[in-house]
Amino acid sequence: MAAPIKRILTGDRPTGPLHLGHYVGSLKNRVELQHQYDSYILIADLQALTDNFEHPERLGGNVVEVALDYLAVGLDPERVKIVVQSMVPELCELTVYFMNLVTVATLERNPTVKEEIRQRNFQRGVPVGFWSYPISQAADIAIFKAHLVPVGEDQLPMIEQTREIVRRFNALYGRVLVEPKALLGEVARLPGTDGGAKMSKSLNNCIYLGDPTEAVQKRVMSMFTDPTRIHPTDPGHVEGNPVFAYHDAFNDDRAEVAELKERYRKGTVGDVEVKQRLFAALERFLSPIRERRRAFAEHPERVREIVVEGTRRGRAAAQATMDEVRAAMRLNYTVFA
Ligand code: TRP
Repeated sequence: MAAPIKRILTGDRPTGPLHLGHYVGSLKNRVELQHQYDSYILIADLQALTDNFEHPERLGGNVVEVALDYLAVGLDPERVKIVVQSMVPELCELTVYFMNLVTVATLERNPTVKEEIRQRNFQRGVPVGFWSYPISQAADIAIFKAHLVPVGEDQLPMIEQTREIVRRFNALYGRVLVEPKALLGEVARLPGTDGGAKMSKSLNNCIYLGDPTEAVQKRVMSMFTDPTRIHPTDPGHVEGNPVFAYHDAFNDDRAEVAELKERYRKGTVGDVEVKQRLFAALERFLSPIRERRRAFAEHPERVREIVVEGTRRGRAAAQATMDEVRAAMRLNYTVFA
């Protein structure tokens, strides 16, 4: 018998449209691997709720937007299952079982969650739901028995937490779950247009996959470059310069990128030209994405069907794992059946 095809699980919080940082960190790998792996992509609305519980009405519309972004970048709905997290209640059940396998001290050490808590400054203290979301994320990954999780760099602590929980579960109850591996994008993290460490909606430094031409142009032309360079004839720095980080990530004309870098270092090209060429390259990259997005957006019924069908198939996979989980934990009491 042939070995069963390996699985991918990854996901995004539906808190807004997806941007170029999501693309290089994870979406690109998902598109490239969709034909080799049995792929499940989670629209993580329950996780989004952990810091949007005061505005749950914001999530529904974003679920549709994120689904459109997935289809726009070229995820094939015949292959990839787009799954809405809240429609798979088994995830909540597995989260509760996993809660017994993690200590408070471990949760408190998670660097990504620490940083997020700092950014959010929760007025009434840190809600348990937010602080413990790595446990529910571990359930997301484990319930699909994913081998590979394509993610950006900031998600590595979540994958490590998942691996720990899976090891502990398997040691206690029997080998049911799969220890997943993270898969980082070639460019694991894209700086913001302001030169900040990463693109983030709250920092207003993003280029979104669905942005119209004018918005992309405005963002690119006002990008942060080399602060030490005052005149276009000054030798400039390519390393650590976000405009070149974007050229590296998105400009398909590698010869042009090499030439621009050389001229920039020598001081024979101005920021304006480097940005104009980046804008042109981004337009080459974004226009087919925009086009696919528009085509799908014209058929909301079809998009709805894709998500319903993906969720149905995802839930079936989750239920199969949960039968094994309950049996391994001796929770499948036949007395009540
Ligand atoms: N934490 C991820 C983010 O911030 C979203 C997410 C939820 C996820 N569940 C997941 C990512 C499972 C990978 C695997 O975008």
